Amino acid sequence: MNISQMIPVFVLINVLVLVSASDFNQDFDITWGDGRAKILNNGQLLTLSLDKTSGSGFQSKKQYLFGKIDMQLKLVPGNSAGTVTAYYLSSVGNAHDEIDFEFLGNLSGDPYILHTNVFTQGKGNREQQFYLWFDPTKDFHTYSVLWNPQTIIFYVDETPIREFKNLESKGILFPKSQPMWIYSSLWNADDWATRGGLVKTDWSQAPFTASYQNFSAQACTWTSSSSSCSSNSSQNSWMRQSLDSTGQARIQWVQKNYMIYNYCTDTKRFPQGLPPECSQS
Ligand SMILES: *[C@@H]1O[C@H](CO)[C@@H](O)[C@H](O)[C@H]1NC(C)=O
Ligand SMILES: *[C@@H]1O[C@H](CO)[C@@H](O)[C@H](O)[C@H]1NC(C)=O
Ligand SMILES: *[C@@H]1O[C@H](CO)[C@@H](O)[C@H](O)[C@H]1NC(C)=O
Repeated sequence: MNISQMIPVFVLINVLVLVSASDFNQDFDITWGDGRAKILNNGQLLTLSLDKTSGSGFQSKKQYLFGKIDMQLKLVPGNSAGTVTAYYLSSVGNAHDEIDFEFLGNLSGDPYILHTNVFTQGKGNREQQFYLWFDPTKDFHTYSVLWNPQTIIFYVDETPIREFKNLESKGILFPKSQPMWIYSSLWNADDWATRGGLVKTDWSQAPFTASYQNFSAQACTWTSSSSSCSSNSSQNSWMRQSLDSTGQARIQWVQKNYMIYNYCTDTKRFPQGLPPECSQS
């Protein structure tokens, strides 16, 4: 091969490397939905859909134990009442750990609810819910989880909305030893999702579709035989990242203006006393 033949080969290799930065074919499997979930555009776009028969879902090929995990979602537009788009990390099983984003649809023009939760060893009951400061159906927005041994932080477009700190020193369990898969699904939950189940899914609007792009995980991946981090973990800044004072101010802004439910203030629900982590933050 002479030099002029080699140049196009180099160009091609570089392009492949760039594109593989986010390839749903490489990172995820469609796990259910009988053709309702699709990977499109050479792996750059994934869509889930829901019709009267069923919803659909996908799962990561890898398991992760800590990471900064970003996904861009564009939610079901128009009348999405009754639909739920769940995007979460879970270790699965009875004593599972889990970090949840769930998007509860609404009538056209009425706000989606972003529902969040954290499970440790099978126990959740840590719901916080938010309205968003934009219409999540118009464009893609980035929803991220930062998960390291000190903290779990939920972000929307890099704005922190919620933190669950490691308070093991206070006797509160923290997810740190069970690797998790990433899951997402779109399904019908009109028995509870929209205004507590008052508004039902309008099947004349089906199929309902949510879209995903630009997945990125700076993370440690885990298999039963090995575990590795995407780069030298002692240099990975996300491993040691915590909320600085700007982050603290942002989270307070979100919680003051957009939080609509916080288990930590729900004294009716916990008559024996609020969960212990609530008095620590
Ligand atoms: C839907 O809109 C209603 C009316 O604005 C609001 O009360 C509710 O929180 C919204 N979201 C959901 C998921 O019900
Ligand atoms: C894709 O995600 C990366 C990192 O998560 C971000 O820097 C980049 O701007 C995103 N690209 C687009 C087109 O949004
Ligand atoms: C990771 O980075 C640290 C700090 O720069 C260095 O001391 C260590 O040898 C590196 N480890 C590997 C496996 O490259």
